Amino acid sequence: MAKYRIAWLPGDGVGKEVMEAARIVLDGLKLNAEYIHGDIGWEFWCKEGDPLPKRTTDMMKTTNCALFGAITSKPQREAKEELIPELKDKNLTYFSPIVRLRQEFDLYCNERPNVAIPGCPLNLKDNINITVFRENTEGSYAGVEFGPVTDDLKKAMLKDAPKMKIFMDVPNEDMAISTRIITRKGAERIIRSAFEHADKFNKKSVTLVEKPNVLRKTGGLMTEVFEKVAKEYPHIDSWFDNVDAIAMWLVKSPEKYEVLVAENLFGDIISDLAGQLVGGLGFAHSANIGTEYAVFEPVHGSAPKYEGLYKVNPMAMFLAAKMMLIYLGEHEMAAKLQKGIELTVKEGTVVTYDLGGKATTLDVAQEVLKNALK
Ligand code: IPM
Ligand code: MN
Repeated sequence: MAKYRIAWLPGDGVGKEVMEAARIVLDGLKLNAEYIHGDIGWEFWCKEGDPLPKRTTDMMKTTNCALFGAITSKPQREAKEELIPELKDKNLTYFSPIVRLRQEFDLYCNERPNVAIPGCPLNLKDNINITVFRENTEGSYAGVEFGPVTDDLKKAMLKDAPKMKIFMDVPNEDMAISTRIITRKGAERIIRSAFEHADKFNKKSVTLVEKPNVLRKTGGLMTEVFEKVAKEYPHIDSWFDNVDAIAMWLVKSPEKYEVLVAENLFGDIISDLAGQLVGGLGFAHSANIGTEYAVFEPVHGSAPKYEGLYKVNPMAMFLAAKMMLIYLGEHEMAAKLQKGIELTVKEGTVVTYDLGGKATTLDVAQEVLKNALK
């Protein structure tokens, strides 16, 4: 029996290609694992009305963790149009499977490292090392939305939120409401993860990304919890920055930041910004971690226009696989993979188009493996 059981979730488009590349590397490193394929993605939405069939989550529950490629998501109207005729009138709603996985497995911690690989021509600066801790289960992603609204809802809101007054005369069908829900528990566990990481890796600071001057209630709760947890780590510098201001600061002086912590949507946005400072989509990767389970993924999407071309950079996938190896405790293997990635980028000969090269996704896999085993 293999040491690990890993759920293998390629998903759509180039997700399949970068996962194929990941297998070359993991097999070459001799990870003692059994990989179990899981159906997920657009195909299953169209054919079955569910992009994340129950058989897949059931299978995942029998594994140590999952590696995930990418999925296609489309707005509701287009999603409905692509359903097979038998499912069209079933009133089905498309939900992003990755967002569902994060909620169903309570993977509250989305860790997104953005570390400049030495010599990568896409680095804004070479001294960038910023890890974003994004809350992954609540905030604007909780899915608590209304549209059209109802009179009852408006009245109930007016009772506790006097500002609702200016919307009372808006016709119900001309209005939509998306909530941003923050709980003390949700805030505390992600903020704690950020400080624990800073403590473990001797990082000097943790910055909360918020907007409490406008989002007084939710931003206020985040800030309150942040200040409380920060007191337990007096040796770590901590402060909060407004989300808009930090977007500018991150471009101007990224080296000032080491660990960022944010609620779901701010974390989503700010981690794309941070990712672009050190190579962009070809490198951005993340770990979705809960207390029982974890899913590792590149941040990029399924890139339908590149499907079948084996053109996209698999480095983001390899970096996600490296995080998985660390999660499994395979530190030596993770270090080898990191070396393989770094050497390949530094040499700059067998690289994909985004790095100025002509190599295919699978060529890069072979090169990274060769360098990892050196
Ligand atoms: C990400 C992605 C997802 C998100 C999408 C695909 C739903 O942008 O992982 O950052 O918004 O969380
Ligand atoms: Mn995103």
